[in-house]
Amino acid sequence: MKNFSNYNDYSRKEDLHFASKAVHGALGNDPITGAVSFPIFQSSTFRHKALGESTGYDYSRLQNPTRQELERTMAILEEGLEGFAFSSGQAANMALFTWLNPGDHIILSDDIYGGTYRIMNDIFSKYGITYDFVDMSDLDLVKSHIKSNTKMFFIETPTNPMMKVADIASLSALAKSVGALTVVDNTFLTPYFQKPLTLGADAVVHSATKFIGGHNDTIAGIVVVNVPELADHMRLQLKSHGNGLAPLDSWLLIRGLKTLPIRMDKHNENGMKVANWLRTQKKVTKVFYVGFEDHPQYEISKKQTTGFGSMISFNVDSFETVQKVLANVDMVMFAESLGGTETLITYPRTQTHESIPEDIRQKLGINETFLRLSVGIEHVDDIIRDLDRALNS
Ligand SMILES: Cc1ncc(COP(=O)(O)O)c(C=O)c1O
Repeated sequence: MKNFSNYNDYSRKEDLHFASKAVHGALGNDPITGAVSFPIFQSSTFRHKALGESTGYDYSRLQNPTRQELERTMAILEEGLEGFAFSSGQAANMALFTWLNPGDHIILSDDIYGGTYRIMNDIFSKYGITYDFVDMSDLDLVKSHIKSNTKMFFIETPTNPMMKVADIASLSALAKSVGALTVVDNTFLTPYFQKPLTLGADAVVHSATKFIGGHNDTIAGIVVVNVPELADHMRLQLKSHGNGLAPLDSWLLIRGLKTLPIRMDKHNENGMKVANWLRTQKKVTKVFYVGFEDHPQYEISKKQTTGFGSMISFNVDSFETVQKVLANVDMVMFAESLGGTETLITYPRTQTHESIPEDIRQKLGINETFLRLSVGIEHVDDIIRDLDRALNS
């Protein structure tokens, strides 16, 4: 692990466990000075010794050592070929979708983050790309939507916000058989609980704003790919769109990753307790949580993940109860986003899924009595007490 020479001499530390890889990253420390905390290279440009003699870093839109450390660390954790860090999850998705050419077709999860829906519906549709939003937990339904020009499957699993689970290995094999790429949005579970690339997917994307950063303090996106041509494509996009993650934000994510395993374990533990408690509440009519044994795709979750995370959606008995809960939560905050140390409660209908047309929202179940919780890592008794007060007093 000792490395006192240059920024390219790093190893994947295959003999270490996930938690150690998360702490020690790619280089982990600064190979030149030995600084234990990887430096923030706050420089837009890099000096050349002479014509044709670059250090490997020329201009931070193209490469930056801090961003590179994050990208390499994410590639190690996702067990992929190469990582790319973007200024947001949306920017990462935009770059991935540019893989498609006019005339191509893409199949996406029907129940998906509203911003991803918007990218397809409002932007890429203008460039001759056709798309279908399909329930990816139904393999036959996916098969029936494949066309001769289908070039990508875009899977969110678990889905945001209905918590449907898709079988990554079966879908990746199906996509491969028709010459399409499989991309998995791994935001909800992170590589600590789910590694799509090891199940046959070609790329993983994250809103790293969420569990990867983990502290509700940075907007960021990550892509990790396993296909060399897609890696070349992503490098070109990042360099051309100019939406690479800034050095300070990259450093915040490197720091966030060091505690990813212990945060995820606590999220998981708290999530299970809060989901079980919600189920006992009179005013709660339905709870959506992938860790329930009677979740329709529980067996798939058991097969492909090592934890359930802390995302829970639920319906309450009336819109008045929704208003009461959102006005009365105290420690739990009514705010958009998820995956941070703080417990957040969201109203998807007018927040995260506002871009989805009302008829589709109703069909999916994103209705006026529907709420989403991102359970944080506070003491679980405090989370439950706060929700209890907001719901029942
Ligand atoms: C599952 C999922 N994917 C992608 C995004 C977009 O990420 P960002 O907000 O970082 O642009 C989000 C944002 O909420 C999300 O929840």
